[in-house]
Amino acid sequence: MTAKTWDRKDLLGLQELSASEIETILDAAVIFKSSSKISSALSGSTAAFLFSEPSTRTRSSFEVAARRLGAEVLGFSVASSSLLKGESLLDTLRNLEAMGVDYFILRHEHSGVLESLAPNTRASLINAGDGAHEHPTQALLDLFTLREKKKTLKGLKVVIVGDILHSRVARSNIHGLKKLGARVTVCGPSALIPGDIEKLGVAASHDLDAALKGADAVNVLRLQLERQNQNLITSLSDYFESYGLTPARLAAAPGCVVLHPGPINRGVEISSQAADGPNSLILEQVKNGVAVRMAVLSLIGQWRKRNA
Ligand code: CP
Repeated sequence: MTAKTWDRKDLLGLQELSASEIETILDAAVIFKSSSKISSALSGSTAAFLFSEPSTRTRSSFEVAARRLGAEVLGFSVASSSLLKGESLLDTLRNLEAMGVDYFILRHEHSGVLESLAPNTRASLINAGDGAHEHPTQALLDLFTLREKKKTLKGLKVVIVGDILHSRVARSNIHGLKKLGARVTVCGPSALIPGDIEKLGVAASHDLDAALKGADAVNVLRLQLERQNQNLITSLSDYFESYGLTPARLAAAPGCVVLHPGPINRGVEISSQAADGPNSLILEQVKNGVAVRMAVLSLIGQWRKRNA
């Protein structure tokens, strides 16, 4: 693999990355997607997963990616670990690091939890979603999928619709899309859009039909009811009526592709016809997630070899 040099031990978020660093990951992912499936880039390394929130796509595709790169994968379960006896996350990492773990892929309910851990371990930390803060590899695979389909992100109009308030996917997408030159509109009910979101350089709308006009892509987000401690919407059916993506709504934006990070709540934020329709790239996103995560692991692996 002939990727450009990567100069970070960890991947904590897209906010801290330059456009060039993001493109380095996307370009490396192109090679992994097109080349043979097995590599030895991480041979002799061990990757462990610390997920204190559920996951289907992120955990499984990181596991596939790590194995395809030749890494050993440690099946660690937070739910049956000594974290439940009060051991700190840092002590947990240090103990697993002492057993030879080189890469930790972490998902945690608290925003920003990785920032204080990363300088205190020699292992590499990869953020698989922290609270409402960032989900960098989800955004990278979204950027990859869009770039593959539209050839460039520069000048694209991308609408992110749904629960922006609680969404780490929205934040990472905004950082990545802006750095690569896209125009971003976030859309949803006012209770689900942070009041200061425009400081991130995006437009805000409460009218999905208006927001979709001229859109090249719409990224549909799930309502994160598990993070809501009060009723921020009147009802799921009202929400679908105003913000649910349907083929009728999409008809106003010819060529607009549909993204969704998953899991999908059909009939809440998107209809089945839109989720499974001709403009949907949702399963292509999932497929690309493996190549993007191979790229991230492999670039960090190169850094580790240079800094051993
Ligand atoms: N998109 C995403 O993070 O999906 P999972 O929660 O299934 O990992």
